[in-house]
Amino acid sequence: MTRILAIESSCDETAVAITEDGKLLCNVISSQVDVHAKYGGVMPEIASRLHCENIDVCLKEALDTTGLKFEDMDAIAVTRGPGLIGCLHVGLQAAKTIAMLYNKPLIPVHHLAGHIYANEYAGEFKFPLLCVVVSGGNTELVIMKDHLDFEIIGETKDDAVGECYDKVARVLGMPYPGGLPIDRASKLGEHTYNLPVPLSGDNSFDFSYSGLKTSVINLANQLKMKGEELRINDMAKSFQDVAIGMVVDKATKAARNYNVKQVILAGGVSANSYLRETMKNRLQGTGIDLIIPPLWCTTDNAAMIAKVAERLYKLEVFAPLSLGVDPNWKIDDYRNF
Ligand code: KG4
Repeated sequence: MTRILAIESSCDETAVAITEDGKLLCNVISSQVDVHAKYGGVMPEIASRLHCENIDVCLKEALDTTGLKFEDMDAIAVTRGPGLIGCLHVGLQAAKTIAMLYNKPLIPVHHLAGHIYANEYAGEFKFPLLCVVVSGGNTELVIMKDHLDFEIIGETKDDAVGECYDKVARVLGMPYPGGLPIDRASKLGEHTYNLPVPLSGDNSFDFSYSGLKTSVINLANQLKMKGEELRINDMAKSFQDVAIGMVVDKATKAARNYNVKQVILAGGVSANSYLRETMKNRLQGTGIDLIIPPLWCTTDNAAMIAKVAERLYKLEVFAPLSLGVDPNWKIDDYRNF
């Protein structure tokens, strides 16, 4: 029997999970989103401090709910990157301390590998597969020919799609995080604003979101100066069609080009209803399977970190206690630490 205790603290959620032979025994999450909402985005310094306050509470709750002790674990897993440097440090220090005190192996896990493997709670992987990784910090297309074999075939040249949602939401007077409010508003609107499609005519699998964000800001400012009304729901719909349209177009083209058996969605933006629905429609009848993560798996959690750690444990991918964080860790480099 293998028991893993996993810790996640890369952004604004402090999370601890325990798995036993793949079965999730507990999934404790303390979200700071209400605090950061006041600032319209994650304040890194505040986030690190809150992780310091919350990590012990989350660890205690995980042990209390399962009736287990640190001694009962076979390994301690932790998100080593990418993420906010101060936030990552808190999780890593906690993991290293437990690993040292209880003489357990320390397993460093890549945050996006976690988002991808969250899908294993929803279905079985069929290789080769395409991962559509869309979050607040990342926008990547990743091909997997086997377990833990990641090849980035395209990524954003500037902003991440989630970051773009959050900035556009602010312009539209919506709260942080802006993904869900825009998703909801777009259902009430029409695509009436003409926004440029980034990288149109580009054959790569790369993305770009900063131009789209600037277009929305400029259009909103122009309307304000002219004293004209900005139709919020219509702008949300026009923006979402372009932002998600780019993801769906590139992902379906990549799925065909790479002859994949399956497409999986990962990251916070994979909660987007339009993305889920459009991806499903596009892949219908193609013979390519789609795994859509359950909503609880789309936000940051440690259950997904434990899923990756189970596989790394079998391969004995353990780190020394001198391990440091890497805020810019690349997924195809996940064994280098
Ligand atoms: O994965 P995540 O927690 O961020 C990182 O780890 O980087 O994702 C958070 C992002 C935020 O930008 C949020 O606005 C976006 O996911 N998001 C959505 C939706 N729900 C959350 N974006 C679009 N549509 C949604 N329904």
